[in-house]
Amino acid sequence: MRPIAGPVLGIESSCDETAAALLDADGRILAERVLSQEREHAPYGGVVPEIAARAHLAHLPGLVARIMTEAGVTYPALGGVAATGGPGLIGGLIVASSMAKGIALAHSLPYVAVNHLEAHALTARLPGLVEGGAPFPYLLLLVSGGHCQCVRVDAVGAYRRLGGTVDDAVGEAFDKVAKLLGLGWPGGPALERLAAGGDPKRFPFPRPMKGRSGCDFSFSGLKTAVAQEVARHGEGALAASLAADVAAGFQRAVVEVMADRASHAMAMAPEAKLLVVAGGVAANTAIRTALTEVAAARGAWLVAPPIRLCTDNAVMVAWAGIERLRLGLTDGLDFAPRPRWPLDALTSAGQDTN
Ligand code: KG4
Ligand code: ZN
Repeated sequence: MRPIAGPVLGIESSCDETAAALLDADGRILAERVLSQEREHAPYGGVVPEIAARAHLAHLPGLVARIMTEAGVTYPALGGVAATGGPGLIGGLIVASSMAKGIALAHSLPYVAVNHLEAHALTARLPGLVEGGAPFPYLLLLVSGGHCQCVRVDAVGAYRRLGGTVDDAVGEAFDKVAKLLGLGWPGGPALERLAAGGDPKRFPFPRPMKGRSGCDFSFSGLKTAVAQEVARHGEGALAASLAADVAAGFQRAVVEVMADRASHAMAMAPEAKLLVVAGGVAANTAIRTALTEVAAARGAWLVAPPIRLCTDNAVMVAWAGIERLRLGLTDGLDFAPRPRWPLDALTSAGQDTN
């Protein structure tokens, strides 16, 4: 393990959160901030790439300056700069990468282009989450608005994708159903609240992929079934109790599918004793409860990082930077941000080692 000369700055701007964090060389958080663009995108019912890119550009420099001041750290004292290099929206990726490269160049610091999925994957190894640090190999279930996949994490830079969605991401399904029910965007949290007062058995929606081998997911059929049910009740707003029953029925279907898929994934990787869940959907209590039970039934246990570390943040980016710097894995300033960058591509291709 190579020593790191000082705190590591992490920058995240791959979607609609502008975030910066400063971690000491052991991974303890010195300062961190996340600016959500939810209000900017809400009128459009989803993330608008151009609005996102402009907002990152407007807010990131001030945000980085602010956490540096809060932590009392100067740029020359840094041990490295890590920024999300992909996958994500290209405008935001360019903003974070350019800023990180500029700081690295000006102060002769190592630069790490972090894969956003790897950052989610390694969060479980942050000091303080699992006693002694999450040991490899473990399983990662990444469930957000943009991602839905299950990965075996073998080591830093070594990942095997066991399965993923063949259509919508699970958070996307929550958001689309929430929209059908007239809830705002993003709709996952509101849908969960509504479901709490509903009857999950009234509408037996399909459980796509349940019982199939492997651990792929599919949510578009479930979403269509919900849309058809809503349409059956005519135009306009649904009666409150009916909407709650639809929400509860949808959530129950998702929970059963997630539990089944996670169980299959654990059977595919019996050597993994930890099931780690990450992404915004990990905030859902019904899903967390089901995954806890599934893990226990397979002799494993669930690690669910605090919600603010499950959703997009820069702590995970700085931490992934530290994990890579410890192994001497850095990137050249000619790194080109990658809108598509599958996690298992890291395993075969690798990054620069120096
Ligand atoms: O990780 P995240 O903040 O952003 C990305 O998508 O990258 O995840 C946001 C997603 C949204 O689709 C949101 O509706 C969903 O996570 N979400 C939830 C809950 N909280 C957030 N879905 C279900 N239940 C929740 N409590
Ligand atoms: Zn994410």
